[in-house]
Amino acid sequence: MIDEDGLDARLDAAIAAAREAGALAAAMRAGPEAALAVTEKGVLDLCTEADRAVERLLRTKLADHFGDAVLGEEYGLGGTAGASGQLTGERLWVVDPIDGTFNFVHGLPQWAVSIGFLDAGVPTLGVVYHVTADELFVARRGAGATVNGAPIQVSGMRHADRPLIELGWSRRRSITPYLELIAKLIGEDCEFRRLGSAALGLAQVAAGRTDAYVEFHINAWDIAAGLVLVREAGGWTSDFLAGDGLTRGNPILACTPGLQARLSALTGIA
Ligand code: IPD
Ligand code: CA
Repeated sequence: MIDEDGLDARLDAAIAAAREAGALAAAMRAGPEAALAVTEKGVLDLCTEADRAVERLLRTKLADHFGDAVLGEEYGLGGTAGASGQLTGERLWVVDPIDGTFNFVHGLPQWAVSIGFLDAGVPTLGVVYHVTADELFVARRGAGATVNGAPIQVSGMRHADRPLIELGWSRRRSITPYLELIAKLIGEDCEFRRLGSAALGLAQVAAGRTDAYVEFHINAWDIAAGLVLVREAGGWTSDFLAGDGLTRGNPILACTPGLQARLSALTGIA
């Protein structure tokens, strides 16, 4: 495990890198069209030159600077984990340069830079920068969570009768359980949304603005930071890292604790 000074340095670097990455993404979005030219990694799974440039920046400022390993959405494994392709590093950055790329390309504001850090396999630092809102969500294991420096807490069932639940979806999973879950939630008088960024989805649970985030398959780079945010804001998260979740993804349920039993029963995610 890293000592406190090592974590302090990494958290400071992650905050600075998130802001710099956000500024680069915003500048590229406002600049020449070429930055937004889309490569389709899969149907409805987009990547732009902005995604790649921002990830290169994060890798330089974080993994290269500290000599740590890195797992990123666009370039995969690198640093100390790169040569063997194994996640052998004790210290691992898990980054998504632009989460919500579809929104980014179309001009909707819900996209974010997401930076998570695992210390000996434990999610320890989480920074999510919602660039268009200039909201910086920060969490450190054991030290709480903040947005723009102000402490945040999950909703604590303020809206117990009418919870607001975000339901993420991608083509990596069948539409059937997703549609069935919507039907069940409507049947239980719950409100639902799909806003298009899982990183922000978990940050909004941490801030108590939504009560839960559910997705039947999500990748580590989308939520590594969000896991720390939700836990440090007093929330509950499913065991995302179980099995090969880090490299192949898993389901995620992140919620205010009072909703956990009900949503685990409805979704089958524990
Ligand atoms: C996607 C977003 C989306 C979620 C998908 C992710 P991307 O990431 O987080 O909200 O539902 O599962 O793949 O493609 O915008 O980086
Ligand atoms: Ca993503």
